[in-house]
Formats: sequence, structure tokens, C-alpha cells
Amino acid sequence: MDLPRRPRRNRVNGPLRALVRETSLSPEHLVMPCFAREGRNLSEPISSMPGCHRHSVDRLVERAREWSDLGIPAIALFPATGPEAKTADARAALDPDGLVPRAVRSLKDALPHLLVITDIALDPFTDHGHDGLLSPDGRIENDSTVEVLSAMALVHARAGADLVAPSDMMDGRVGAIRESLDRGGFLDTGILAYTAKYASAFYGPFRDALGSAPRSGDKKTYQMDPANRREAMLEADLDEAEGADILMVKPGLPYLDVLRELRDRTTLPLASYHVSGEFSMLKAASERGWIDYGQSLLETLIAFRRAGADLVLTYGAADAARLLA
Ligand code: PBG
Repeated sequence: MDLPRRPRRNRVNGPLRALVRETSLSPEHLVMPCFAREGRNLSEPISSMPGCHRHSVDRLVERAREWSDLGIPAIALFPATGPEAKTADARAALDPDGLVPRAVRSLKDALPHLLVITDIALDPFTDHGHDGLLSPDGRIENDSTVEVLSAMALVHARAGADLVAPSDMMDGRVGAIRESLDRGGFLDTGILAYTAKYASAFYGPFRDALGSAPRSGDKKTYQMDPANRREAMLEADLDEAEGADILMVKPGLPYLDVLRELRDRTTLPLASYHVSGEFSMLKAASERGWIDYGQSLLETLIAFRRAGADLVLTYGAADAARLLA
């Protein structure tokens, strides 16, 4: 054949493929989400998330040291709270000696260079499992919830959190949290905003891990409708105007189009959250011998980077870092 252009020429061997590779993936792009629990010397496996555990704080620090040694720069911390920490008013979320502040202090003491990102939402602390406060008629109240979230962010900042990550999807929370942090003197504590967080079935294993599935109803009055893309741009404009430092899309793979469009719209760094259900699907299929876990994980992570993510939250962060080493 008389072909002037033969794209295969750029694929003939590994070094050439590396030379023309358009996107890169390295451990420094990854954030490890992890679960803290009360107690000592405990690592409780999460059955719906193979390889993941609820760690007591002492154990979490040990694991975090391993992740950091693998080149992972940051962790996203979630509390697996006991029933004693769950009330209608979520007051345990504001306890300066609660599980999260204690974990943050221990982590930052032991590993000052590891960035700690804390979750700002009320679901681990409400007895009904919703991310916000419930009104008597069963609605999730926006403005009163935002007040608690702003105070919660300040508690985390005082404990040493590098970034706070509101995952609640209340309106106006980024601005209120920014104001609360600034007034408290935490000008350099960043906000990683869950900008486009969809009401997704892929959070199932996470809710299992935390025992945080809503007791009644669903999260569709605050999390976004999976059918909507333009609405994500509205959320992004608001978060950016309110002072977010990084914008996130969640879940990951099913929403790459949203990520891609945001990439063209904002100059802020973008994050993608490869959520629990997405991770567990890879694990489950590989346990059955249907796909290769490591290769499918790396392919998934490079897809996030290709679509425009600067950073990726994934439960496979340590596995990926080992494979990339
Ligand atoms: C709750 C929260 C959820 C996740 C992160 N923060 C679950 C939810 O909204 O019900 C999901 C993360 C995952 O599935 O990996 N604020």
C-alpha cells in the first residue's frame, strides 16, 4: 500500500512509545482514601472492598508511612465512627478530640510531609446517615448544615489538616468554609471541593465500610442527577467563585465527559474520585479471573489523567504505586 501516514511507526517499540506518550501517571498524582476507627492495634478488613481496612489510628499511621514511602503525597481520611458518635445534630463532628482530629494530629506528628485531606460532611455523625441535618418534615436543611460544616472545617484545620474536602453538596458551603478558615487564621488550609458529586450507586461499598447508608430516603435532593452535565458547570462556577482550590468530579469513569468539559472551563487543578464501587468491580472481576487487576487499574488511572485530572483519589493508589515503581 502506498500510505504516506503510518501511525503504527510511532508504536514500533517501547522507547519510541514512551517518547510520544501524551500523558503520564506516577504516584505523585495519587491520593489514598482511608478509613480510621477507634481502638488500638486493629485493622478490620472491609469485605466489600478487598485489600482495604478500617484501621485504628496507630495502625493507620503505620500504613500511611508505607504509602508515603511509595511516593504517594496525600491521603483522604474518612472516619468509621461507632454508634456513640451518631446523633441527630451530628455534634461529634465538632469534637476537637474526636476520631478525625486525633487521627490528623497523629498522622501529621509522625509524617509531616504527608498531606492529610479531611472529609467535610455529616454522614458519619448523623444517626440517620444523611450528609446534612434533617428537618422535622424530613428535608435536608441547607443553611443550618452549612453552619456545622464551617465549624467542622475549622476543627480539622486546627488539628493540622492540609486540605478540607466538602463532600456534602450543600449550596454555599465552599464560601462559608473559606470564611470560617480565614477568620480562624487558616489562610493556607486549602479546599478540595466535591464540585460535581453525583447521586451514585457506585458508593455502595463505601457506605458498607462506614455503616453510613441513609436510614431513610436517598441523597438525590443534594447530590447531582447522573443525567446532568451542564449543571456540573454551574456547580464549578460557584465553587470557583466561592474560593475552592481544587475541583473534583465523583464518581470517576462514568463521568469522564464532565471532567473533560471542566478541564476546558477552569484554570483550577482538577481531581477525579475513582470511587469504592469502581474499585471493587476491578477487584471482584479479577478475583474471578476475568480481568487483570493491576493492568486494568493502571489503564483506569491513565484514563483519568488523559481526560484532564491532575490528581486521582483511588483505593488502588498503593497498588498502582507499586506497579509503577
Ligand atoms: C459521604 C461520602 C461518600 C463518599 C465519600 N464521601 C458516600 C456518599 O455520599 O454516600 C463515597 C466514596 C466512595 O464510594 O468511595 N459524604
